[in-house]
Amino acid sequence: MKVINNKKELSDLIFAFKANKQTVGFVPTMGALHEGHLSLIKKSNIENDITVISIFVNPTQFNNKNDYNKYPRIIDKDIDTLKNVKCDILFIPTEEEMYPKEDTKVFDLGNLDKVMEGKHRPGHFYGVALIVSKLFELVKPHKAYFGEKDFQQVAIINRLCKIQNYEIEIIACPIIRESDGLAMSSRNMLLSAEQRENVALISKTLLASVEQSKSMTVSELKEWVISEINSNHFLDVEYFDIVNDSTLESIEDWTEREHSIGCIAVHVGSIRLIDNIRFYF
Ligand code: PAF
Repeated sequence: MKVINNKKELSDLIFAFKANKQTVGFVPTMGALHEGHLSLIKKSNIENDITVISIFVNPTQFNNKNDYNKYPRIIDKDIDTLKNVKCDILFIPTEEEMYPKEDTKVFDLGNLDKVMEGKHRPGHFYGVALIVSKLFELVKPHKAYFGEKDFQQVAIINRLCKIQNYEIEIIACPIIRESDGLAMSSRNMLLSAEQRENVALISKTLLASVEQSKSMTVSELKEWVISEINSNHFLDVEYFDIVNDSTLESIEDWTEREHSIGCIAVHVGSIRLIDNIRFYF
């Protein structure tokens, strides 16, 4: 594994791989790697000759300074973790390297950044679009891999590729869960033991909501999920919405059940977790 901090060195190396007709898969991350990230890397390894991973805690996507400051940074452990999978290039830029001057780029993300995460974390998706566009223009991968836990982010990245004319295939990979159902996330390591015991209720409720959806209207189901989770005093639902999986607009009824997805954000003390569920049965 080659560890690179410098943009020029990275693009020269990738240029050489491509000149050699090798395909490039890319897994952008903010580090604190877990099995979810490893599943993306393994898929990239299967589908490409070369896999590039980036680790960069991107300041522009944090609308809350405290969240940015306490985001887990465990780079030495991450490098050790990556020794267990094939990783050809690990790119770890500094903030100065990615943001040498003020950015003026504007992205028309349509309605996709106005709802759910976009509504509750103003500016978040602009920051995501900004850093992902910089990374895509640098790595120019054939395929890029993202986890479906961040379902709205995947929709935004697909839109970004369309508006920026990137010829990159976006591969959305399924959520990887802990044995009690908790969706894997770098933020999980910030939970106290007591919080950790209680957060399993989020995925348990989402899973149970699929069964409940057979006998409830969409609005009854939304109320049910929120009250089940809020009944646990460690948990405080910020939003739960059931939306169309391409427009991200709220749905009113179950007529397009196969295109509906329930997305949730929950505060656990100062930690914020997200998850989602499909309503197939
Ligand atoms: O999903 C993440 O870890 C981040 O949002 C990403 C895509 C690496 C951009 O900083």
